[in-house]
Amino acid sequence: MKIVWKILLILFGVGVVAVLSALAYVRFRDMEGKHPVEPRTLDLSASDPGEGARIAAMVCQHCHLGSDGTMSGGLVADASAFGEVYAPNITQHPENGIGDYTPGEIDYLIRTGIKRNGGYAPPWMPNSPLLAQSDMAHLIAWLKSDRPEVQPSEVVQPKTRPNMLARALAAFAFQPIPYNDNAPAQPPASSDKIAFGGYLANARYGCYHCHSADFATNDLMVPERSKGFYQGGNQLTDEAGEKITAPNLTPHPDGLGGWSEADFAKALRQAQRQDGTMLRYPMRPYALLADEEISAIYAYLTHLPQAAGN
Ligand code: HEC
Ligand code: HEC
Repeated sequence: MKIVWKILLILFGVGVVAVLSALAYVRFRDMEGKHPVEPRTLDLSASDPGEGARIAAMVCQHCHLGSDGTMSGGLVADASAFGEVYAPNITQHPENGIGDYTPGEIDYLIRTGIKRNGGYAPPWMPNSPLLAQSDMAHLIAWLKSDRPEVQPSEVVQPKTRPNMLARALAAFAFQPIPYNDNAPAQPPASSDKIAFGGYLANARYGCYHCHSADFATNDLMVPERSKGFYQGGNQLTDEAGEKITAPNLTPHPDGLGGWSEADFAKALRQAQRQDGTMLRYPMRPYALLADEEISAIYAYLTHLPQAAGN
């Protein structure tokens, strides 16, 4: 009997030590790690900083726009589940911003999540592996342009303070994405409405990130393989910290079934529902979408298979 107790006690002790070591590992490991950085050579000659600024206003600004009116960064409300996450200064300041990033290094970071120092930026900085090379070039031309919002700002954001959840995910789940050498040179032609709309919704604006089942089961390389693709259900948090479920955007009656293209345009441009009530955060207005973009995204979403689910 005594022996049995001793054995149990030892096993229990071993268990406690194992759990404590796992916690210590998660808490103190270097979250960023060290990854190879293999930037490609980019051709910015045909790029348009104005188009880059327009895209950035819809996909970068809500995190990186600072209180001084430049892209000097700030606290990322969207990432509050992971602790205090700060989007850094990405103005042209050589030390406090990203003035000394080369175009290839910016492209590498946006596609893979790996920064120029080899550290991995967890997916609270969303990756865009499928972005067309021309869109990437517009964004980088904007970051390197003489537009006021990217001129050097001295601001230094506080260091991100990830919580244990973020640390555990970083230890066991978060992964850089392999560099996608097969990104298309250009978006599909706008005359092919469904292909163009699919590109916009998935690769450029990442609508499925929120409007599928869960961030954790999204497939960034093949979005169509994401669980509950555009069927909604993803549990998000609104400004008051309340749960908000991402709605279904398939043509099912629970989704866009009863929506006209004009209703859809109002939801995107003004963040208003059919009845005029406001859509809540984290749905943001996409005020700078061109008519042809809205029309193409609508055509794409309403051609998806009807699926129930939220
Ligand atoms: C949801 C918030 C969010 C959005 C949207 C976002 N970022 Fe970031 N970004 C971050 C955070 C947070 C980091 C810091 C990541 C880290 O180091 O852990 C970051 C890091 C960066 C860096 C690296 C800076 C450095 O000091 O190494 C660059 C460059 C960058 N972002 C550019 C962009 C561009 C361009 C866009 C739009 C295409 C964009 N980001 C969209 C949150 C965001
Ligand atoms: C950051 C997460 C997020 C992203 C990205 C996002 N949405 Fe949403 N969207 C939401 C949430 C949450 C709601 C619900 C808001 C509410 O009910 O107040 C919503 C609501 C909507 C609605 C209204 C649907 C309804 O049934 O009321 C439409 C239409 C919509 N989004 C389209 C889009 C499109 C198109 C994109 C990409 C251009 C997009 N969303 C990107 C989170 C997001």
